[in-house]
Amino acid sequence: MGAVTAACLADLGHTVCGVDINAARIAKLRRGQTPFHESNLSEVLKRNLGAGRLSFTTSAAEAVPSADFVLIAVDTPASDSGQADLSSLHAAARDVASSLEGETVVVIRSTVPPGTSASLAPLIRAVNPGARFDIVANPEFLREGFSVADFMRPDRIIIGADDRGAGRRVAGLYRGLRRPILISDLATAEMIKYASNSYLAASISFINEIANICDQVGADVSQVARALAMDKRIGRRAYLSAGIGFGGGCFPKDVSALACLAEGHGYPAPMLRAVMRVNELQPELVLARLKEAFADFSGLRVAVLGLSFKGGTFDLRSSPALAVVRLLAQEGIGVRVFDPLADESVPAEVAGAADISSDPYQAAAGCHALIIATEHPEFRELDLVRIRSSMKSSLLIDGRNLLDTAAALRAGFSYRGIGRGHQTKPVSP
Ligand code: UGA
Repeated sequence: MGAVTAACLADLGHTVCGVDINAARIAKLRRGQTPFHESNLSEVLKRNLGAGRLSFTTSAAEAVPSADFVLIAVDTPASDSGQADLSSLHAAARDVASSLEGETVVVIRSTVPPGTSASLAPLIRAVNPGARFDIVANPEFLREGFSVADFMRPDRIIIGADDRGAGRRVAGLYRGLRRPILISDLATAEMIKYASNSYLAASISFINEIANICDQVGADVSQVARALAMDKRIGRRAYLSAGIGFGGGCFPKDVSALACLAEGHGYPAPMLRAVMRVNELQPELVLARLKEAFADFSGLRVAVLGLSFKGGTFDLRSSPALAVVRLLAQEGIGVRVFDPLADESVPAEVAGAADISSDPYQAAAGCHALIIATEHPEFRELDLVRIRSSMKSSLLIDGRNLLDTAAALRAGFSYRGIGRGHQTKPVSP
């Protein structure tokens, strides 16, 4: 997110220096290479490195003194208790503080609990009592994989500032985008980010609960979701794709952090807890489907297509696909996995629990069941007839409702989606 912000701000004409403590990452970025899969980022990096507007360093002391704005975009992962872990943010703020010179606006891009940005002021002053700075919250709404497009065409830009002048100066950074800008106080801007991610996560758990009921009553959740999205009060881009749950580096930790924050204030946040509970249960549906089809799991082999938390990325953080692999391995089921974007970063835990295949057909050959666990678009193009003919049994569990059910049935599969229960037939050898 920091790399995207740096590259895109440079593309808007600003002079930007990106700082990271990871030297290998900085070396890649200096060459215009992205350390992760992100559409169009490499082009924007190269264009701005070439134009001399963008540079990278591992030293805050090199970048901060001359800067008018310092944007902090470090991760705020969930701690063991579920609260936001602010240790990287505090370390970055201290690092920045010691190099502040002149008038600077410190902009918090990281997702932080309301109150956090304001609490950085005394921390900065403790390190550098003479520093002249304002703090502004400017949360991002970038989706992994689409970050450049989301940066360049945001639905709105949120700026939180207790000093209106500092807020307006940060708004000026985005003038070139010509998009709506909402300026609020610090705590409100921080809350908008949590509310946004929690709302989106809640829609997913909502549609997953509807899907689970659809399965009981023989209704099709895909059609239900399509109809809901046609209601303008809900909207056509609503997060209403049912599946094995949401994952990634944002929704799970942000819903949890907001619930913990609420509980810390004496409010039990029952709805946020329910959003998480539904999400924890979704991967277990895969196991339940297998139990319905196979009386015992001895000698059972399944292929899992997809490891990442969503399509088009290879990010395994809180991935529901990974949760499925773990559940299957715990049951002693033989698991083969394939992910089209898998790289050398496949964790040892996965390699220990499953065989990693280099193509989907190899993964499925000789298996009793095929599971789609990630919505990688290329899975829509699979030759289902070829896959079915190489398998030992006919069960296809579409954990992302990605495939055309009629095509799957025509290929000879017993198709089970999430909330599309009526479109199945008994599992055959
Ligand atoms: C999310 C938000 O969408 C961004 O606006 C936000 O800036 C970002 O978190 C963040 O806080 O940094 P991201 O984590 O990249 O972005 O992922 P999404 O594309 O929103 O998907 C999240 C998860 O929800 C995925 O596991 C996806 O499979 C799942 N999902 C999404 C569904 O199960 N159903 C849907 O209808 C939509």
